[in-house]
Amino acid sequence: KKLIVLDVDCGHDDAQAIMLALTQPNVQVLGITCVAGNVDVDQVCRNVLRVLKVFGRLDVPVYRGANVPILGKLVDARYWHGKDGLGDVPDPDPPSEELVQSEHAVNALLRLSKEHPGEISLVAVAPLTNLALAVRMDPQFPARLKELVIMGGNINARGRVTPTAEFNFAYDSAAAHMVLSSYTCPVSDLPYEICRFSSDSGIPWDEWDRIMGIPTERGKFHAAILATSVEREKAAKSYGPHYHTCDPFALIVAAHPEVVQESEDVYATVELHGEVTRGQMVCDYRGVWNKEPNLRIIKKVDMKAAIQMFHDALQ
Ligand code: BDR
Ligand code: CA
Repeated sequence: KKLIVLDVDCGHDDAQAIMLALTQPNVQVLGITCVAGNVDVDQVCRNVLRVLKVFGRLDVPVYRGANVPILGKLVDARYWHGKDGLGDVPDPDPPSEELVQSEHAVNALLRLSKEHPGEISLVAVAPLTNLALAVRMDPQFPARLKELVIMGGNINARGRVTPTAEFNFAYDSAAAHMVLSSYTCPVSDLPYEICRFSSDSGIPWDEWDRIMGIPTERGKFHAAILATSVEREKAAKSYGPHYHTCDPFALIVAAHPEVVQESEDVYATVELHGEVTRGQMVCDYRGVWNKEPNLRIIKKVDMKAAIQMFHDALQ
């Protein structure tokens, strides 16, 4: 089985990534490390436990990590994911928070990489604070990973929390810079424009409505936590003819690399000094800096396969 560790700031698309991870027959989730982003880290841990409970997988270890970025002020994404990060759907019977491991997420990452050298696909769909701390504590950490797959950053300066920066990279730009400049393992990236705006990565609304209508306990839970954001987007028509989501794609690429239909290797870094562009990912497409590529940008995935994974996960 593929060994995967997920690093999340569990909003609803992180929850989707976890759901897909737990239900791929070829994947073993070694652990889920939590970091602040969409909501504070304690709420992230609660949300992860909630998803694990619905999927009957409270055996998966959950680790609490950083609650503030390396540098910069906190800007959460509650406006988008809900006050609780999961669409503000009450949980009548929340799992005990004592289920969160006492080991810090960063220590867990280092330990797991030693226990499974060269075997772990680390899937990071959140601000990269834990990953930046891990490489500072142990510079050999990235070399012990099989690969890192990130959802974050942007390839054409199309932003979200600022005009030019994607949320995960804007929230902790220093960490994003540290990761891109020091992770020596193969690094793939699902950038914001591809996840959010490309018609190639959208799920047609009628297909999506079928997924939202899956009548199982898992399907109903998924539909409930997604309802507010999906209705908002449908009404605003800002998504056009497709539903778009971000974090699940990083998991899909890690679990099933064969779904990648188009990618580009580039050297990429993160703007840290721009007055209006801090957090923007900068890609040297033309090789002006003459540097070796450090990032494989995923540009297109097999959407039929992706849609099927949602169905399988929620049945
Ligand atoms: C990213 O920002 C977060 O709100 C989502 O969970 C996703 O990881 C998209 O920009
Ligand atoms: Ca996320």
